[in-house]
Amino acid sequence: EQINKGNYEHYMQKEIHEQPESLTTTMRGRLKHGGSCKGKTVLLGGLKEHIKTIRQSRRIVFIGCGTSYNAALAARPIIEELSGVPVTMEIASDLVDRQGPIYREDTAVFVSQSGETADTLLALEYALENGALCVGITNTVGSAIARKTHCGIHINAGCEIGVASTKAYTSQIVVMAMLALAIGDDAISSQARREAIIDGLFDLPYKVREVLKLDQEMKDLAKLLISEQSLLVFGRGYNFATALEGALKVKEVSLMHSEGILAGEMKHGPLALVDENLPIIVIATRDACFSKQQSVIQQLHARKGRLIVVCTKGDAASVCPGGSCRVIEVPQVEDCLQPVVNIIPLQLLAYHLTVLRGYNVDQPRNLAKSVTTQ
Ligand code: G6P
Repeated sequence: EQINKGNYEHYMQKEIHEQPESLTTTMRGRLKHGGSCKGKTVLLGGLKEHIKTIRQSRRIVFIGCGTSYNAALAARPIIEELSGVPVTMEIASDLVDRQGPIYREDTAVFVSQSGETADTLLALEYALENGALCVGITNTVGSAIARKTHCGIHINAGCEIGVASTKAYTSQIVVMAMLALAIGDDAISSQARREAIIDGLFDLPYKVREVLKLDQEMKDLAKLLISEQSLLVFGRGYNFATALEGALKVKEVSLMHSEGILAGEMKHGPLALVDENLPIIVIATRDACFSKQQSVIQQLHARKGRLIVVCTKGDAASVCPGGSCRVIEVPQVEDCLQPVVNIIPLQLLAYHLTVLRGYNVDQPRNLAKSVTTQ
C-alpha cells in the first residue's frame, strides 16, 4: 500500500508530506537514549565491523549524483567536526572523468537513493580497484551499490516514486548525521555536542511536521512566482546544500531556471544579476553564519533585490528590517539538522510552482528516476 497516492494528488506531494514518518523509520532502533555507561549513542548495525577503520582513515570521500550529492554536502560539516577526518566531495561522473586520486587509506561513501545510478556504480568500481573501504548509503535493499560496497547503511525512507527526490534527501542527511555521531563516538570532548544532536534527532519529526504547515504559504508564494524566468537561492555553511537542492527541485520539476549560490561567492559574480525583478531566496536561519547572512541580505537589499528570506521563527524583524522582504519562518533545530527543516518549504514551493504551471510533477520532462545508463 506504500505505493499508492493515498489522499494526495501526486506522489511528490505525498512524499513531501510523509517526511515526519519516513524520518522516524530512518532512525528507528538506531538511537539509544542512554541507560548504559555510554549515555546517548547511535547504533548502525551495517557498519559495526568497519567503524574503527572509518575513524582511522586518512580521508572520507563522499560520492554521488544529483540530490544524493547535495545530501552528502549538507552532512559534510558535521562529519568533519565530529570525526576530525578530512572530507572531500565528488560528483560521481567527474571523479571517473578525471580518474581522481582514491587511495587504500580512504573511506569512500557512495550515496544513492536507487542504488543503481550508472555514474555512481562506475565510481564505486573505480574506488574498489583502488583499494578504498567502500560504504553504501542507499534506499534500496539488494541494489547494486548495496551489494558491491563493503558495508553500508539503508536509509529506510520507504519507496520513492516521484522523480524529484524529497523524502530520500532528508533521510540521507539524517543517516549521515548518525554516521558522524558513530565515527565520533569515542571522543569525550564532543560528548555534549553529540548528545544535543541525538536529542535533536529525536525531536526532528515533530519539527518537520510543524514546518509542513507552511504548505499554503508556499502555494501563495508559488502564485506570485509563477511567471518568473529565473530564481536564485543563496545559502552558506550547513545550508549551502539547501541552496543547491532547493534550486535543483525548482528547476527539475517546475522547469524554471534556478541556481543555488554559495552566499560567500556573491561578490564574485552573482551580484551582477541583482535587480528589482529577479526573485532571490536567502536562507538565513540561526547558526554560526547568521550575521554573515544578515549582511548578505543588506547588500542585496541595497541593490533593490527582490528578497524572500527563510529565517528562524521570531527572526523576521532581524532579517528584514522595515519589512521590505517576504519572510518564511521555520522552527529552529540543532544547526547540523537545520538543512532537513529548511529544504521543506523549498520542496513545497517547487511542487506548487509545477502544478500551477501545469507541468507533470511526478515525471518531469526528459528526466528519469534512476539513470542507469551513462
Ligand atoms: C536522477 C534523479 C535524481 C537523483 C539522481 C541520483 O537524476 O532524477 O532525483 O537525485 O538521479 O539518483 P540516486 O538514485 O543515485 O540517488
